[in-house]
Amino acid sequence: MDANAIKTIGVVGAGQMGAGIAQVAAQCGLDVILVDSAAELAARARDRIGDVLAKVVAKGKMHAGDRTGILNAIKPTGSRADLKAADLVIEAAPENLELKLSIFSELDKICGPDTILATNTSSISITKIAASTRRPEKVIGMHFMNPPPLMKLVEVIRALQTDQPTYEATIALAERLGKTTVTSKDVPGFIVNRVLIPLLNEACFALDQGLATPEDIDKGVQLGLNHPMGPLALADLVGLDTCLSIAEVLMREFGDDKYRPSPLLRQYVAAGWLGRKSGRGFYFYPNS
Ligand code: CAA
Repeated sequence: MDANAIKTIGVVGAGQMGAGIAQVAAQCGLDVILVDSAAELAARARDRIGDVLAKVVAKGKMHAGDRTGILNAIKPTGSRADLKAADLVIEAAPENLELKLSIFSELDKICGPDTILATNTSSISITKIAASTRRPEKVIGMHFMNPPPLMKLVEVIRALQTDQPTYEATIALAERLGKTTVTSKDVPGFIVNRVLIPLLNEACFALDQGLATPEDIDKGVQLGLNHPMGPLALADLVGLDTCLSIAEVLMREFGDDKYRPSPLLRQYVAAGWLGRKSGRGFYFYPNS
């Protein structure tokens, strides 16, 4: 599939990553089919995109008509069968291997034979996901950073089976979306999370040890290392459940204890304190 022939993108999962990817694609002139388990969830995600873009319009940085055009390009649905019309599908479902395998085997049946099936997984093996389809050579990792509309990077991860045309089309598409790419082998955590998750996890250990307040841990890293936000605030943005599941994949797959998740991180997830999306993580988010 030539990247210029890609007109319609399917996005599976209308959470913060799926909605952000849908927004980026629609802003770049692509039609987007946004699927979640219920049409209402996908429609709500489109409403949230509308709210964000209304603020951009209010600041005079976008024409109201462009906002309408972007929203009209996103078709929310509760039915994966609608992805038949997609030239490329990006799966952005929760980090659960069984769930992803079942989604890919279903997409394989629904989508046309030339459709590229990409996953936004942050740590799960693309090679395993590819093997659940009859088109493993057309399966690839396309890992956006959170929040997708503001972050420049897309990590492209080749499964063992991914062929060169699929790889080249994915790189070209990411560039069409205004992103810079890096290419990683299919090794747990890829590049970004291999480095990031130990940092976030270490901040949790430090907090658990009473090293400093959350605010001072964050301020120390933010101002001391010139990071845009501190590790605990970033963990809240990524989602503490997502951080934990990536840490678990790193520990299991490398068999190395240095990746063991902090007990505090586990407790927060057990309490349902998942960060921004649940209104509470290391900080409180009353308006989420
Ligand atoms: N669409 C369009 N515009 C948007 C927007 C959206 N969805 N969201 C915000 N904006 C606009 C805002 O309106 C604002 O506009 P103005 O400049 O005109 O005011 C502008 O974008 C900046 O918004 P903010 O003021 O909210 O942004 P900020 O300057 O505070 O930066 C941030 C926010 C980009 C998140 C920054 O704090 C940052 O870079 N943090 C680190 C994020 C990071 O590391 N992400 C990667 C996580 S790792 C990952 O994702 C991988 C994984 O698998 C876990």
